[in-house]
Amino acid sequence: MSTIFAMALGCGTKNRDEHWLEVFYPDPYLKPDPKLVDVIREEVGYEGGNAALELTHRQVQHLAREWRDAGFEHEASYAVAFQESEQPLVLTILETDAEPASTPEAYLKLHLLSHRLVKPHGVVLSGIFPLLPNVAWTNEGAIDLNELPERQLLARLNGKLLEVNSVDKFPKMTDYVVPAGVRIADTARVRLGAYVGEGTTVMHEGFINFNAGTEGPGMIEGRISAGVFVGKGSDLGGSSSTMGTLSGGGNIVISLGENCLLGANAGTGIPLGDRCTIEAGLYITSGTKVEVLDENGDVADTVKARDLAGQSDLLFRRNSVNGAVQCQTNKSAIALNEELHKHN
Ligand SMILES: CC(C)(COP(=O)(O)OP(=O)(O)OC[C@H]1O[C@@H](n2cnc3c(N)ncnc32)[C@H](O)[C@@H]1OP(=O)(O)O)[C@@H](O)C(=O)NCCC(=O)NCCS
Repeated sequence: MSTIFAMALGCGTKNRDEHWLEVFYPDPYLKPDPKLVDVIREEVGYEGGNAALELTHRQVQHLAREWRDAGFEHEASYAVAFQESEQPLVLTILETDAEPASTPEAYLKLHLLSHRLVKPHGVVLSGIFPLLPNVAWTNEGAIDLNELPERQLLARLNGKLLEVNSVDKFPKMTDYVVPAGVRIADTARVRLGAYVGEGTTVMHEGFINFNAGTEGPGMIEGRISAGVFVGKGSDLGGSSSTMGTLSGGGNIVISLGENCLLGANAGTGIPLGDRCTIEAGLYITSGTKVEVLDENGDVADTVKARDLAGQSDLLFRRNSVNGAVQCQTNKSAIALNEELHKHN
């Protein structure tokens, strides 16, 4: 009986060449009971390691029966639901958290994040881009881009409109899972693979990339780039920005601690500790020269912003008289507006 990192039974979409476009796992498991796998090892031809096993409907039927007989009633109920489906079915078993090697494996890892089973950086995602095909996400589901013109025509000939909501490697998270206790004003702004903590509100301007997110509660009206994690009680003001690491050479992973405020149109290229505020409109990059002010408001030192990375209780402002970026002790850390958050 070996340990298993993650496992999920799912159904998905394939293109005409039988390549996976996407997979939906309603109930993924992190560290599942190894017996779940042991009782079906032979049935599904699982020989260990990381594998995405395509199942026939007959196999899913057997799986349901064997899980039920072994006392896994809950898991069996999903297998029962799947056994009638016409969709391609897959059982993905990850013995280890190695780099994903197939589209179903990649999708399982994104599900683990959005189901809040792992936090951003809690799962290995390197090598994921080639495994996620660029897909038309439509009101009729995922469609291969080569097959799209024909499907559009077909819809029109039937007097219907095929609505293409996005063309992307990542679908929107809410088509796969809506984690409890969140508000998301525009669901297209949160990708599958986002971790949206309980009590998070994402307003229309807000955006959360994959492998990124919020501990919750929090108010997100700005952009949370891939890899960025925002601590409890923090507020990203309208159109604010957290610098990503996917392009432009930046390699510092950004995070915000608890009770931080990124003002409207502000941005950060350094990780912030707890109770930090960046003035509206001010973008701090790691090399920004910052005057550190003492209690009397006099310049005590000049440092690069990266030297202040991760420190708590800082207030960053651009002095509107002389233009210098200045940092002082943050005496009035924000308290989130209770009214905004308690109705999630
Ligand atoms: C940085 C910020 C938090 C400072 O707010 P604050 O601590 O309340 O500061 P105040 O506006 O009360 O100003 C305190 C003093 O500093 C001065 N001051 C403020 N900002 C200054 C600046 N950039 N340069 C020079 N002086 C400044 C004020 O004039 C005031 O001077 P006084 O003591 O002579 O009256 C605020 O300006 C800000 O940017 N908030 C972001 C709000 C936001 O964007 N929310 C998200 C909405 S979507």
